[in-house]
Amino acid sequence: MTTARAAIARNAPDFKARIGLVLGSGMGGFADRITNRVAIPYADLPGFAQSGVAGHAGRLVLGHVGETPVAILQGRLHYYERGDPAVMKFPIETLAELGCETLVATNAAGSLRPEMGPGALMVINDHLNLVQASPLFGAEGNGRFVDMVNCYDPDLRKALRTCADNLDLPLHEGVYAWVAGPQFETPAEIRMLRLLGADAVGMSTVPDVILARHCGMRALAVSAITNLGAGMSDDALSHEHTMAQMQVAAERLSLLLWTWLEGLA
Ligand code: HPA
Repeated sequence: MTTARAAIARNAPDFKARIGLVLGSGMGGFADRITNRVAIPYADLPGFAQSGVAGHAGRLVLGHVGETPVAILQGRLHYYERGDPAVMKFPIETLAELGCETLVATNAAGSLRPEMGPGALMVINDHLNLVQASPLFGAEGNGRFVDMVNCYDPDLRKALRTCADNLDLPLHEGVYAWVAGPQFETPAEIRMLRLLGADAVGMSTVPDVILARHCGMRALAVSAITNLGAGMSDDALSHEHTMAQMQVAAERLSLLLWTWLEGLA
């Protein structure tokens, strides 16, 4: 048992989660609405580092959505904050130890498709690890050679789509390109990403999904589109712009995930 797990057991004895969620920028409100809520600050969890990015709380929140027990990482650390691809190793491994069979990751992303504008949602069906770094650097054993085919679980994607259709919520699907950040891309980089076959670009999620697959969890990830890629529109990019646009997407994404989670029980 990790030391973090021991700290969790003191706060929520015998709690067993089914779904783990990593909630990115602007999605923090979701965790405040769950029932039987127990929130543990990362400061009380050994190995959990606090993000310095505005819009990211730092809490592990346990509880229920309907009957479904969930464990939520409310706020997350990014690769660009430490230059360490394994910053989320302990938190993700802890979700697996808590019993989570599935990891759901959300992120804010830039769109590479003109028709997929700010406020749109995109379920990720594959990714490009352009950082070419891995949270498994230094891991041992044959388990480190993770098969990444269908790492975004096709059945989970299908279930989410059914849910979106029932809610009459448009849901795009596509490839997410992971870049290091924290600077946004140049227009030339955006043109390159489009040529490479990416549909959205962002600074998170990919290492978390690699870790989840390494732990044996299934993965589902959704991008909330906050902007068109650099050079695709006249809008200047900034974190403030991302956070403002995220409000629109976050409301839809929260509704979609909430409905899906409720339906699991
Ligand atoms: N690029 C990278 N990351 C992002 C973007 C973007 O345009 N928007 C939100 N996160």
